[in-house]
Amino acid sequence: MDELRVYAGAFDDDLKAAVREKINDGEKDWLPSYWDMFKSSPAWTCYRADLRGVPAAIFMAYDQGRGEAFLNALRTDPAIRRGGIATSLIRGMDKDLASKGFTDIRMATTSANEPMKNLCQAKFGLEFVPFRWCQTSERPMNAPVMTHAVKLDPAMMPAGTAEREKTLRALWALVQSSDYYAATKGMMMDVPGQFKSLNEAELEALAIIGPDWEGPNLCLCFVGGSSQSAVRLLMGELRTLLPTEQPDKAKKVEVSGYLPLGSHSYEMAASKVDTWYCPRETLELVMGWKAGSLNAA
Ligand SMILES: CC(C)(COP(=O)(O)OP(=O)(O)OC[C@H]1O[C@@H](n2cnc3c(N)ncnc32)[C@H](O)[C@@H]1OP(=O)(O)O)[C@@H](O)C(=O)NCCC(=O)NCCS
Repeated sequence: MDELRVYAGAFDDDLKAAVREKINDGEKDWLPSYWDMFKSSPAWTCYRADLRGVPAAIFMAYDQGRGEAFLNALRTDPAIRRGGIATSLIRGMDKDLASKGFTDIRMATTSANEPMKNLCQAKFGLEFVPFRWCQTSERPMNAPVMTHAVKLDPAMMPAGTAEREKTLRALWALVQSSDYYAATKGMMMDVPGQFKSLNEAELEALAIIGPDWEGPNLCLCFVGGSSQSAVRLLMGELRTLLPTEQPDKAKKVEVSGYLPLGSHSYEMAASKVDTWYCPRETLELVMGWKAGSLNAA
């Protein structure tokens, strides 16, 4: 498609107007109201595809650090869809991000988005890793502070100390536990050439909690562990992170996040254990590839 030019452009007002007026996903599209948020962060790059000089499609890339980019907000002008524009845009972004030193690229779509699912599978052969939104908004009755789980404070582990090294090694081993633990029969590397056993009594499950985009909510970024019972114990204690006035303000404050299907934490939320639940039917299908390797079947 010679008349199509794919490039990283500025978040300029003309493009903003084009997004508000036509390059969107209908009247209820969230993108126009979030445009300034994208614009205000230097971590976002706005990629566009112009057809004969006129903006036809956009897709943003977020620099996550460590050579990883996450793509968001793909839109093609509805009047010219199904002409290969999104396919060309993604392929162009893949090449450009690779040339800028990125190594890994990821993006996601919902299980309800047939056009996007088709595009990703038919054009690029990408595989989906399914996640589902899970949350709780109720504290356990009379909950004390965490009694089993330990809340790690990075400030208590000064860089360069042996204590920090030991903790980080143990955490990494736990993150890897689904396959690594089984393959090594419970061993992990201590220092190169030496190995030690994983001690479940010290560390059985790990959760990584982050802030939500907005508001007071806590985001569940990772929950994994060596057994279903350990994860269940941790999920129960995560509810104590809700402010003490819960459940008076139920549904305003919550701990929530996408959890992967097949994980203990997801199974627990999907089964509505301990007030965890999945409010949405749709799945979030995440896919990724090595930058520069995207094929176009
Ligand atoms: C999804 C979207 C970006 C596709 O843009 P596009 O420029 O039309 O995509 P392409 O022309 O490159 O389509 C490539 C392939 O995607 C699939 N596809 C695209 N639209 C489709 C549709 N309406 N139904 C079924 N498959 C579709 C097809 O496999 C198509 O290949 P084909 O035309 O050779 O059969 C566009 O429909 C859009 O802007 N949708 C609204 C916003 C959105 O859902 N964005 C994605 C958020 S994750």
